[in-house]
Amino acid sequence: MRDYTQQLTVEQFGALIPTGSRMVGSQRGPYLGYTPTGAPLPVRFDPTQAPREDRASAVLLIGTLGSGKTVAAQTIEYAAERRGSLVVDFDPKPDHGLHLLPELDGRVQVLELSGDPAQQGKLDPLAIGLEDLREELACSYLLELLPGNTSAWENAVSLAVKDTVSEGSRSLSRVVELLLASERGTAREAGEALEVIRDFGLARLGFGNGQSTDLQAERPITTIRMPGLSLPEPSAARDTYTRAERVSVATLSLVAAYALQLISRDRSRHKIVGLDEIWFLLASPQGRQIINRLVRLGRAFNATLLLGTHRIGDLGDLSDLIGVVFVFGQDSEDAAKAALRFIGLEPTRELVGRVREFRAGRCLMRDLHGRVGEVQIDLVYPHLLQALQTTPEQTGRSEA
Ligand SMILES: Nc1ncnc2c1ncn2[C@@H]1O[C@H](COP(=O)(O)OP(=O)(O)OP(=O)(O)O)[C@@H](O)[C@H]1O
Ligand SMILES: [Mg+2]
Repeated sequence: MRDYTQQLTVEQFGALIPTGSRMVGSQRGPYLGYTPTGAPLPVRFDPTQAPREDRASAVLLIGTLGSGKTVAAQTIEYAAERRGSLVVDFDPKPDHGLHLLPELDGRVQVLELSGDPAQQGKLDPLAIGLEDLREELACSYLLELLPGNTSAWENAVSLAVKDTVSEGSRSLSRVVELLLASERGTAREAGEALEVIRDFGLARLGFGNGQSTDLQAERPITTIRMPGLSLPEPSAARDTYTRAERVSVATLSLVAAYALQLISRDRSRHKIVGLDEIWFLLASPQGRQIINRLVRLGRAFNATLLLGTHRIGDLGDLSDLIGVVFVFGQDSEDAAKAALRFIGLEPTRELVGRVREFRAGRCLMRDLHGRVGEVQIDLVYPHLLQALQTTPEQTGRSEA
C-alpha cells in the first residue's frame, strides 16, 4: 500500500482552519486572558519576546469606541512593569488609570504637557528628537502645522531645518527666523504662517529657544497627559481640521518622539511605549513615517510599541513591522473585513459578524507565530478593572 504523500501534525491540521487551533500567545510570560470558546485555556503574552528574538516588535490594538483597547494596553503595561520593564504611556484622552493602582504607589510619574508659556519648547523636535530622527521630525511637524496644501512649502521648510541644524542650533524658533529672513517668497510665506501658529496653545510646546533637554524617565512608569489636546473626529478629513485640531495632531508625533527619548538611555532594560489613539498619525504619510521610524528604533532600543487605533487606515509598509495584533470589536462590516484580512483571515460572513459583536475585551489575537485565536482579556482582580477601565461613571473619578 502506498504511504501518504504528506503527513500533518495536529497543530498543522488545526492551523488549516482559521481560529481552529486554540493555541495562541506566548509560551511564557504574564497571563493576559483566556480563550473563551470551549474549555478556557490561559493566554500569555510576553512583550519582551519580539525584541529579544529580533522580530517585529510593534503591537497593534485595533477596535471601535469602547471595545477594550485601552484596558488591554494598560494590562500589558502593568504586567510588564511588574516584571521589570520601563513604561511610557501616552494618555491622550485622558482616561488611563495606572496611577490609581495601589500596587504602583510611588512608581508612576504623571507628566502634564500643556500650552502654558512655562512649558514653551518642551517638545521642540530639534531638542528632544534622537539624532537620526531630529530633522525628519522637525520638517514633518512644521508641515503638519501649516494650513492647506503644504507641498509648495516643503522645500523651503526642509532647507531651513537643514540650515538650522548645520548651524548647530537646536530650536524651531530659529527655523522660523531663517524662513522669515529668506530671499525667497515661498520661504517667507511659510515663515509668516508659522509665526502666527507658534503662539497658539499646544504649538508653544514645539518652539523652543535652543536649550537641549536632558530627558530621563524618573520612575518605572511615566504617563504623559495633554489636557489641551483637541483631537478631530476619527472620520474627519485633514483639510477640515480646525487650527486647534491641526496643532493637536501635529503635536502627537512630538509626543511619540519624546517618549522614545525618555527610554533611549538603557538598552539593557526592556521598555514599553504605549501610544493610544494613533489613527491621526497613520492617516498622513508623514505620521506613518514617524511611527515607522519609531518602531524600527524601538527594536534597537529593546522597546515594544503598543499602538492603539480605531481604524487600520493605510498602514502601508508599517504592516511588516507589526508582530502581534489584537482585533477588538469593529463597528462596520468594512472595518471588520479589513481587520480580518490584516491578520490573514478570510473575512467570511460568520467571522465578520463575530468580530462586530466583540465588546469588553473580547478580541482575536494574532501572535508572533501567526496563529490566531479568540481571547478574552482578563484582569483577574476586580480592583484592577476598576482602576483601569475608562467609563467615567463606573470609575467615579472626581478629576473627570
Ligand atoms: N478586559 C475587559 N474586561 C471587562 N471589561 C472590559 C475589558 N476591557 C474593556 N472593558 C470595558 O469596556 C470599557 C471600554 O474599554 P476601553 O476604554 O479599553 O475601550 P477603548 O477601545 O480604549 O475605547 P476608546 O476607543 O473609546 O478609547 C471599559 O471601561 C470597561 O468597562
Ligand atoms: Mg481608549
